[in-house]
Amino acid sequence: MRFALSLGVSLCLAAPWIPAAAADSAYAPEVCFNACEEALSNVHFDDMQSNQSLINQTCHSQRHFISLYLCLDVYCMPESRATGLGPLNHTCQEWAGTAIPPLELVSNYSSVDIDNIRRIELNDTGTDTTFLEVVLPSKEFFGVWWDTLDSVAYVNHYHRYYGMMMIAFWVAVVAIGVANHAISAASNSNIVNRLPFKPPRQLSVYYSWLVNITTIPATFGTRCAQQIGWGTVPPRIQSITLLVFLVLNVVLTVIGYRIVPVNLYFNTVELQILRYVSDRSGIISFYNFPLIWLFGMRNNLLMWLTGWDFGTYNNFHRWVARIATIQAIVHSVGYTVLVIKEGGWANFAFWWTYMFWWTGEIATIIMSILVGLSCYWIRRQQYELFLVIHIGMSVIVLVTMLGHVSIFDGEYDALFWIPAFIWMADRVFRALRIMAFNPNFWRTWASATYNESSNIIRVSIPWGTSLYKPAPGTFYYIHVLNGPRCWESHPFTVASVLDDGQTAAKLLGEQVPLLESDNREPCTDTADDQSTEEDNCSMTFLIRPYDGFTSRLRDMAAASWPRKAPLRVLVDGPYGHTQPFHNFDNVVFLVGGSGIVVALSYLQALTGAVSPKSVRIHWAVREPEFALDVLESDIGDALGSSNLSIEIHLTSYPRDGSRDWPSQVNIQSGRIDAPSIITAAKERADDESLAVIACGPAQMADAARETVTSMLSSGHTRVEYFEESFQW
Ligand SMILES: Cc1cc2nc3c(=O)[nH]c(=O)nc-3n(C[C@H](O)[C@H](O)[C@H](O)COP(=O)(O)OP(=O)(O)OC[C@H]3O[C@@H](n4cnc5c(N)ncnc54)[C@H](O)[C@@H]3O)c2cc1C
Ligand SMILES: NC(=O)c1ccc[n+]([C@@H]2O[C@H](COP(=O)([O-])OP(=O)(O)OC[C@H]3O[C@@H](n4cnc5c(N)ncnc54)[C@H](OP(=O)(O)O)[C@@H]3O)[C@@H](O)[C@H]2O)c1
Ligand SMILES: *[C@@H]1O[C@H](CO)[C@@H](O)[C@H](O)[C@H]1NC(C)=O
Ligand SMILES: *[C@@H]1O[C@H](CO)[C@@H](O)[C@H](O)[C@H]1NC(C)=O
Ligand SMILES: *[C@@H]1O[C@H](CO)[C@@H](O)[C@H](O)[C@H]1NC(C)=O
Ligand SMILES: *[C@@H]1O[C@H](CO)[C@@H](O)[C@H](O)[C@H]1NC(C)=O
Ligand SMILES: *[C@@H]1O[C@H](CO)[C@@H](O)[C@H](O)[C@H]1NC(C)=O
Ligand SMILES: *[C@@H]1O[C@H](CO)[C@@H](O)[C@H](O)[C@H]1NC(C)=O
Ligand SMILES: *[C@@H]1O[C@H](CO)[C@@H](O)[C@H](O)[C@H]1NC(C)=O
Ligand SMILES: *[C@@H]1O[C@H](CO)[C@@H](O)[C@H](O)[C@H]1NC(C)=O
Repeated sequence: MRFALSLGVSLCLAAPWIPAAAADSAYAPEVCFNACEEALSNVHFDDMQSNQSLINQTCHSQRHFISLYLCLDVYCMPESRATGLGPLNHTCQEWAGTAIPPLELVSNYSSVDIDNIRRIELNDTGTDTTFLEVVLPSKEFFGVWWDTLDSVAYVNHYHRYYGMMMIAFWVAVVAIGVANHAISAASNSNIVNRLPFKPPRQLSVYYSWLVNITTIPATFGTRCAQQIGWGTVPPRIQSITLLVFLVLNVVLTVIGYRIVPVNLYFNTVELQILRYVSDRSGIISFYNFPLIWLFGMRNNLLMWLTGWDFGTYNNFHRWVARIATIQAIVHSVGYTVLVIKEGGWANFAFWWTYMFWWTGEIATIIMSILVGLSCYWIRRQQYELFLVIHIGMSVIVLVTMLGHVSIFDGEYDALFWIPAFIWMADRVFRALRIMAFNPNFWRTWASATYNESSNIIRVSIPWGTSLYKPAPGTFYYIHVLNGPRCWESHPFTVASVLDDGQTAAKLLGEQVPLLESDNREPCTDTADDQSTEEDNCSMTFLIRPYDGFTSRLRDMAAASWPRKAPLRVLVDGPYGHTQPFHNFDNVVFLVGGSGIVVALSYLQALTGAVSPKSVRIHWAVREPEFALDVLESDIGDALGSSNLSIEIHLTSYPRDGSRDWPSQVNIQSGRIDAPSIITAAKERADDESLAVIACGPAQMADAARETVTSMLSSGHTRVEYFEESFQW
C-alpha cells in the first residue's frame, strides 16, 4: 500500500502560498525536515518496542531522536528545526503522551563523533533489521528523499498558484471592463465639462470608435445571434477573451512540474507526470467553480460594475464551465489510470470504498452530463427542463465536491463555500427585489388581455408600491402565482410606464434640469386586491405567446375575455441597463414582432425635453392589428412628435388599404432590409452620432451588426450598435 501512504503524505504536504520567485527557499526548511524524518521513518532501533504503535515507538525512542537531530544538524538549515519540531512535539504529546526530548540531547556529539556514525542506505531500512546504534542517512539516501519531497512541494505550490491565476485572469478582464465603463460614463456625463482642462472632443470620438470596433464584430463573418452548427458563437472580443482563458488553462496544466529521476512516491517518470497532471487539472478545475457560479447568476455585481449584460456573462459562464468539466475529466481519468497501474482493477474497486473517491467520481460524471444537457438544442426546445436539471445537478456537483475535498482538512473548502454563498446571495437578492417591488408581494395583482388577431398578451402591473420607477430598457422576471407552475419565471422587457404624467426623462438624471421636480401627486399604492381597473401607475408588458409559460398565460388571458384576467404575480426586477440613447443625435431602431417593446420602452425618454434630433423606428410585424394596437395604446401622443418617425414593415399581409393607419406612420410591405436602412440613416446623420438598436429576428440583428461593423472598419466614427437579445 505504498501508494496509499504516498497519496496521504503528499496530499498533506502544505506549501504555503508565496510568489513564484521565492518558492524554492520558502518551503525548503520543511522539505529538509521531512526528508530527515522520512529517511529515518523505517529505521527500527533497539529501544523501540515492536508491540507498540508506530507513533509510540518513534516518540519514545531516544536513538531515533538523536538520529533525527543529528540529521537536521548535518543536512539542514537551523530553520528546519524550528519548522518541524514544534508539530512533531505536538503530535508526540497528543498521540504518545510524551514531549520530545530537548535538542541538548546531541550537544555532546563532536564533528568527529558525527563522522563516525554509521551511514545507512535506502536498502538498509525495513522492519527486519534492528539497529543497535544511532545512524544517519547517507548523502544519497537523504538526497533521494529530498528530491522526492522537494519536487512534490514544488508542484503542489504551483497547483495552488496556478489555480489562483484563474481568478486573477478574470479580475484583470473585469478591471478592463470597469475602466471602460467609467470612461464611457464620464464622457457621457458633463463631468468632463467641469474638468479644469478640456480633453479634446476628438479624443472621446476615437476612444468610442476603438471600443466599438473591438466589441461589435462577430467572431466569424456575420453570424452572431444566429446559430452556427450546434450553438451560437459570441462576439469576437468575447471569443478572444475566452480563447486566451483556454490557452491559459492549457499552459498552466503543462508547465510548473519538477520531474526527478528517482521519486520514492511515484517510481517512474510516467507515474510522476500522471499524478501531477491529474492533481493540477483537478485543482484548476475547482478554482474555476466560483467563476462559474458568479457568471451564471441573475444578480451579479460585476454586471453593474462593467455594464456588460447577462448574455455576456452567460457566455463566460458556459465556457468556463466547459473548460472546468474537461479538467475534471482529465483529473478523474488520470487517477483512474494511476490506481489501475498501481494495483489493477482490484485496487480501483478498493478506492471506491473511500468517500472522497466516489464523491469525486460522481462530481465528474454529473458535471459531464450537466454540460451535455445544457446544449443549445435543449435550451431552445426545453428551457424549463434544462433549468430544473441544471439546478438539481449543480447542487449535486457542489455537494459531492465538498465530500471530495474533505481529505484536505478544509484547505479547499472555500471553493465550495464561495459558490454556495454566491448562489444564496442571488436568491436573497431576488427575494429583496420582489419585496422592493411590492412589500406586500403576495398581493401584486396584474391584469392580462389577449387578442387573437394581434396574437399578443398585454400585461399591466401596478408599480406604485415599487421603490424604483421602472426604467427604460430594463426587464423583469415574472412569476404567475395563480396559474400552474408558479415557480417558473420568465424575463420580459417593460414596454411602457404610466406615471401620472411625469416624464420618463426625469429618470435620466443629469441630462434634465431639475426644474420640474414636482408638485404633482407621486404614484402611490392604489392597487386594491384583485383590482383590474386601469391604473395610472402601471407598467405594461407585451408578451408574444410561445409554447410554455407564455402559452399558459395566453390561455388564462383568453379565458376571461372580454374581461381582463387577474393574475397574482411576483415581479423580480429590474434587471438590465438603461442605455444612453438620449446622448445620440440620431437613433434608429430595427425591431421585429415583440421586439417593439424595446423601442416603446425608450420612447418617453427619447421624445422628452432633451432628446435626439431624430428617432426612427423600423418595425417588422406580421399582424396589422398588433401594430394598430401598439400605435394607439403605447405610442399615442408621441406620434405627433416632429422628431419621431415610424415605419411599419408588414410581412404577412399585403398592404391593407382598408385600415386606418395614422398619417404619421409609413407602411411598407416585406421584411426589413437592415443594411440599406442603416446606410441611409448614416448618410442622413452625416457627422452626427448615430445609435443603431436591433431587437428581433437573429438574421436581421446579424445583418445590422455586420453593417455597422463594416462602417466602423471603413473608418466611420460616431456610429454605435446595440442589440437587445430576447434569448440567451
Ligand atoms: C431580456 C429578455 C427580455 C425579454 N422581453 C420580452 C418581451 O418584452 N416580450 C416578449 O414577448 N418576450 C420577451 N422575451 C422573451 C421571453 O422571455 C420568452 O419568449 C419566454 O421566456 C418564453 O417562455 P415559454 O415558456 O413560453 O417558452 P418556450 O416556448 O418554452 O421557449 C421559447 C423560447 O424562449 C426561450 N426561453 C424560455 N424560457 C426562458 C427564460 N426563462 N429565459 C430566457 N429564455 C427563455 C427558450 O430558449 C426558447 O428559445 C425576453 C427575453 C429576454 C431574455
Ligand atoms: N423562437 C422563440 O421561441 C423565441 C422566443 C422568444 C423570443 N424570440 C425572439 O424574439 C423576437 C421577436 O419575436 P416575435 O415572436 O415577436 O417575432 P415574430 O412575430 O416572429 O416577428 C418577427 C418579424 O420579423 C420579420 N423577420 C423575420 N426574419 C427576418 C429577417 N431575417 N429580416 C428581417 N425581418 C425578419 C418577420 O417577418 P416574416 O413574417 O416574413 O417572417 C416578422 O415580421 C425574435 O427575435 C424572436 O427570435 C424567439
Ligand atoms: C509489550 O512488551 C513488553 C515486554 O516486551 C511488555 O512489558 C508490555 O506490557 C507489552 N505491551 C503491550 C501493550 O502489550
Ligand atoms: C501510546 O502509549 C500510551 C501509553 O503507553 C497509550 O495511552 C496510547 O494510547 C498509545 N498511543 C497509541 C497511538 O497507540
Ligand atoms: C515540547 O513541548 C514541551 C511542552 O509543550 C516543551 O516544554 C518542550 O520544550 C518542547 N520541546 C521541544 C524540543 O521543542
Ligand atoms: C551523548 O549522550 C547520550 C546520552 O545523553 C549518550 O547516549 C551518547 O552515547 C552520548 N554520545 C557521545 C558521542 O558521547
Ligand atoms: C545496498 O545497496 C548498496 C548499493 O547501493 C550495496 O552496496 C549494498 O550491499 C546493499 N545492501 C544491502 C543490505 O542490500
Ligand atoms: C381583437 O381586436 C379587434 C380589433 O382591435 C377586435 O375587433 C376584436 O374583437 C378583438 N378580439 C378579441 C378576441 O379580443
Ligand atoms: C388616473 O388619472 C385620471 C386623470 O388623470 C383620474 O381621473 C383617475 O381617477 C386616476 N385613476 C386612478 C386609479 O388614480
Ligand atoms: C427635434 O429636432 C430639432 C433639430 O432637428 C431640435 O431642434 C428639436 O429640439 C427637436 N425637438 C424635440 C421635441 O426634441
